[in-house]
Amino acid sequence: MPTELQPAWWKEMAVYQIWPRSFCDGNNDGVGDLWGVLQKLDYIKSLGVDAIWFSPLYPTPNADYGYDIADYRGIAADYGTLELFRKVLAEAHARGMKVFMDLVINHTSDEHEWFQKSKESAQSPYHDYYFWRKGKGNGGNRPPNNWKSVFEGGAWEYDAGLQEYYLHVFAKKQPDLNMGNPRVRQEVKEIMRFWLEMGVDGFREDVITYIAKREGLPGGFPLPVGTGLEHYTSLPAVKEYLREFKQDVLDPYGAFTVGEAPMMTPKLAKEYITEGDGQLLNLMFHFQHMEADCILTDWIPLPFRLKKLKKAFTRWQTELKGSAWNALYLENHDHPRIISRYGSEKYRVQSGKMLAAAYLLQSGTPFIYQGQEIGMTNQQLDSLEQFKDVVTFNNARLFAKFGVKGERFLRLANRRSRENARSPMQWSDAPHAGFSQSEPWFRVNPNFTQVNVEAAEADACSLLHWYRALLALRRSNPLVLYGDYTEHDKSSRHLYVYSRRSANKKLLVICSFSEQPQRFNAPLGFDLLHGELLFSNYAPPEVQSNQFITKPFECRVYRFG
Ligand code: NOJ
Repeated sequence: MPTELQPAWWKEMAVYQIWPRSFCDGNNDGVGDLWGVLQKLDYIKSLGVDAIWFSPLYPTPNADYGYDIADYRGIAADYGTLELFRKVLAEAHARGMKVFMDLVINHTSDEHEWFQKSKESAQSPYHDYYFWRKGKGNGGNRPPNNWKSVFEGGAWEYDAGLQEYYLHVFAKKQPDLNMGNPRVRQEVKEIMRFWLEMGVDGFREDVITYIAKREGLPGGFPLPVGTGLEHYTSLPAVKEYLREFKQDVLDPYGAFTVGEAPMMTPKLAKEYITEGDGQLLNLMFHFQHMEADCILTDWIPLPFRLKKLKKAFTRWQTELKGSAWNALYLENHDHPRIISRYGSEKYRVQSGKMLAAAYLLQSGTPFIYQGQEIGMTNQQLDSLEQFKDVVTFNNARLFAKFGVKGERFLRLANRRSRENARSPMQWSDAPHAGFSQSEPWFRVNPNFTQVNVEAAEADACSLLHWYRALLALRRSNPLVLYGDYTEHDKSSRHLYVYSRRSANKKLLVICSFSEQPQRFNAPLGFDLLHGELLFSNYAPPEVQSNQFITKPFECRVYRFG
């Protein structure tokens, strides 16, 4: 191995993410569920993945579709029962797949029993589970500080009964937990134990770097959204809490963790994921490569810039090298579909294949989001009423203040909203895309007649088979798993070229992010005439050459040695 890092199962695995509401509806009520998941376990396994990460399955009022948890020890009735979950877990394990739960501990639902009890009185033993504060000013009618919620206006909500405000960094129905309270941490550990005892293999930890708030909750630097971020992002106490969770619970079970971390840099990430005694999480989800066509948030779009994407990719590859391990992803439930963003709907399959090779063959543990493997794309809704997400509605209000409303806002939302990732999974060209026999809770993308699993299974050149083949290559190949990463042709605005190297073996990945022809010159030390073309998203060239002109979104992968 080129680095001093040790091999590990969690480095070699690939993970499939399920957003349960839209995956597969097994009881035909229009909402995805665990009965549906059970039917699709063989399909998931057939992709060549080793684990499933479930977005929240817990009882929830769905203010944020499960990221507002009302009971950490149950399964939402929409999705099934604990007994059914146990069955899914056992069946996944029987197929050699691990199961990771989403652990949302920055906040609960306001319908969680703790919150309900916390607002009974300031003397309630649960009062200090959350951030309750008196208002400021005469009569206390101003919020305790100027923090803004990431999702919904101000970050404080007044409770008339208690005559105090509570903090919610996300939606109003997502009050923040006071992790500084040892009793809250004790609760968290018991919740972790509950799932680990059942046999769950680990957790994806939601906005984990937000779980500590600065002492005294000081006022924040004014921003249009998220004022106060600097007082609750990656504070030193986050590490103390994570250490406690790890030592007391996670380590004894050998549990895997991946933490979600907005605004993360490799330097800071290394404080959490550097291997060795101080390691607090196995992996970290950062956002830097998701900002190549926007600034700060998906909702402020900019033209796509490959150089920005390449910089983020390479920065994480090189800066973690030898000390920590990357989490690789291009899609999840929080971002528009990647083909619609960084690829091309016109060249859906070609650009989807190129994007898959652009990230799956990097060094790290890949995550694949439901529908990504068949090239699902954004859909165009006709009116704001069809949208579902608290973030979209909040942005409608926010953008209206800057004159972006009506059709203009609709265009923006269709391009940038999280709903794009949340339309029902397209299984076949049957009614409702085979997702359900009833009207689904959210509109199916009309392209399901062409874009669906059944069609992809039947087409040997489909994106689905390409994903399988890339994952198979990765799984069986120490070069792809552990080889060194080098980026080539860094200054190109259209080509992303990287290689992996281990001893005398090399892999060269050539990705065009352009519809226009681009001239490719093999990097020094790579002779394509002596390479084996493993993957190509067009018919292989008749004559190999060290220079060629790319076709739209062309991708080739060569192996040497
Ligand atoms: C990140 C989750 O991925 C997202 O879906 C959720 O809305 C926020 N955290 C708040 O929990």
